[in-house]
Amino acid sequence: MNTESIRAAFPILKETINGYPLVYLDNGATTQKPARVIDAITSYYTHTNANVHRGVHTLSQRATIQLEAARKTVAQFFNAPSAGQIIFTAGTTDSINSVALGLAEKHLQEGDEIVLSVAEHHSNILPWQHWAQRHKGKLVVLPLNKEQSVDVTALEDKITPRTKLIALTHVSNTLGTITDVEAAVRIAKLHAIPILIDGAQSAPHLTVNLGKLQPDFFVCSAHKMYGPTGTGILYLSERWLNELPAPRTGGGTIKTVTFDHTEYAEGALRFEPGTPHVAGIIGFSEALKFMSDIGLEAIAQHEQSLLIHAQNQLRALPEIDLYGDHEHKAGVISFNVKGAHPFDVGTLLDKYGIAVRTGHHCTQPLMQHYGIQGTVRASFGVYNTIEETNFFIEKLKKVIKMLS
Ligand SMILES: Cc1ncc(COP(=O)(O)O)c(C=O)c1O
Repeated sequence: MNTESIRAAFPILKETINGYPLVYLDNGATTQKPARVIDAITSYYTHTNANVHRGVHTLSQRATIQLEAARKTVAQFFNAPSAGQIIFTAGTTDSINSVALGLAEKHLQEGDEIVLSVAEHHSNILPWQHWAQRHKGKLVVLPLNKEQSVDVTALEDKITPRTKLIALTHVSNTLGTITDVEAAVRIAKLHAIPILIDGAQSAPHLTVNLGKLQPDFFVCSAHKMYGPTGTGILYLSERWLNELPAPRTGGGTIKTVTFDHTEYAEGALRFEPGTPHVAGIIGFSEALKFMSDIGLEAIAQHEQSLLIHAQNQLRALPEIDLYGDHEHKAGVISFNVKGAHPFDVGTLLDKYGIAVRTGHHCTQPLMQHYGIQGTVRASFGVYNTIEETNFFIEKLKKVIKMLS
């Protein structure tokens, strides 16, 4: 992998922050965008912009063709059985809310249980908690194992006849640890319980093969995969494509409407009311092509080498507490400087142009598990380098001295 030419493709990496070259280590929150994604969006608005699906004029047809081609690109990227199972949404949070609202309508009954894990992002807790509080439902929480991944072996103990859904993060956004989703799907299928996989942090770093994994629901966000904000996907298994009540309706979702009755469209369109984020979806498709051109394996290997390099150096610092300290995980490092507030560490690193995230990372239950307020999180992307990693460690050592 040629990191130099990859870096050259990202205009923002030429920015300086406080007089230092930008070292962007906040990829878990959102990734930067390569010029080809920015260009694809500009080109769409320059040459194509029109509303999709119902127009007979040339631009509308062009826009529709590009949107549906993007759906195919997404399906291929994730090896989904069919493009029709890919629903475009505003992102992971929107996708999970759609599933929660849809399931609440028919599938979930008062007193039912949903199994999640202690490592979930708030976006994969709150929609279920919202339902549970209104319907006397119960959230059942899987713990972490000794590698600080979600303990899927505890699933069997947590499942009861009232379990109606399992909803698990694939990769923890705070720790980077990887859930054994293959085992989770196997157990879910054994008990005929639907399973949702939150792929917000796995899709950018690991090969996700939906055809092989066969979850009921898979969700992710474009902006964490070098694509634009405001778009993402909800993958539905064939069963749920037909059975999930659409949580929202409106233009674009129908075959015929009278004031007495509506016949809804079949497939993905039933879940996509209103004008979609066409430019965003086209940008997303270009981002996936960018990732495929490099290769998911190459991206994972590169990020893994940065992770191991940084982790080894952090382990050698007695002032550092590491969380989720494990070799086999996505490129995310969470740590604290003993006795210092994560915000202070993040603010001081920013003085050297180093962007890291600080706080609870929308995983407050996980923070409660560790008995801490928050952490400093460095998360790697395809454009980060060993030199940047060394610079980060060097400046972190300075910050430790300043705060001691
Ligand atoms: C694991 C996980 N789930 C869900 C989300 C929510 O994603 P979005 O804000 O793109 O909807 C995030 C974002 O950080 C995440 O890391």
